[in-house]
Amino acid sequence: MEGGQHAPDYPVPLEVTSADDISNLVNYLEKNYGKLDVLVNNAGIALEWDGKPTDTDKIRRTLEVNLIAPFAITEALVPLLSVSDDARVINHSSQLGSIDTAENLWQYVSAFVTIGYSTSKAGLNMLTQIQSKTLTVKGIAVAAAHPGWVKTDLGTDAAPLEVEEGASTVVGLVTIARDQFPHGQLVNKGVRIPW
Ligand SMILES: NC(=O)c1ccc[n+]([C@@H]2O[C@H](COP(=O)([O-])OP(=O)(O)OC[C@H]3O[C@@H](n4cnc5c(N)ncnc54)[C@H](OP(=O)(O)O)[C@@H]3O)[C@@H](O)[C@H]2O)c1
Repeated sequence: MEGGQHAPDYPVPLEVTSADDISNLVNYLEKNYGKLDVLVNNAGIALEWDGKPTDTDKIRRTLEVNLIAPFAITEALVPLLSVSDDARVINHSSQLGSIDTAENLWQYVSAFVTIGYSTSKAGLNMLTQIQSKTLTVKGIAVAAAHPGWVKTDLGTDAAPLEVEEGASTVVGLVTIARDQFPHGQLVNKGVRIPW
């Protein structure tokens, strides 16, 4: 569209594991906007906090949504991000994917660490690091966000943080000045978390 007008049918449905949906999204953005300034890979699942043993099916499904989908979506959107003069990719990760945290703070996190979820987020952290190296030549800044433990369907009512507080880390990454964006880092509320 021309003259800053945008299509009225936002939002666009996106099943993140669907190649067709990703392709439709790219076409929609290209046709209506011609560029993309910010991509937040937010969708995530945790299937293993049901008190039952982890199985390979749960691990596979978790990796598909939490790691493979962010890779596929970002790859598909790189051409549109490259057009922006302030492109940012924010991968919604978790401190539960921090190997440093598992190594040094095990007594605090062991009740929450599961094979599928934590390895998916550790993989997302590595994806973030790789993307920060490979996409910088296209002018795309990349960071990973840990929102804290937040009252959502995933976080449950036991979490201490309200949604607004949990969202503040990603909102901060979207709005922070370009030269202060923590490219190649995992952060919570502006503070770096060791990988
Ligand atoms: N809550 C926490 O304490 C916490 C802590 C650390 C990190 N995180 C991360 O923060 C992100 C958001 O989580 P949340 O707490 O808001 O969880 P949530 O309330 O369970 O929301 C998850 C969102 O992901 C979407 N989603 C899941 N699978 C999808 C798929 N295959 N395709 C498209 N969308 C899909 C869901 O859509 P539908 O509603 O349509 O299913 C929902 O909007 C996740 O990446 C999570 O790992 C959360």
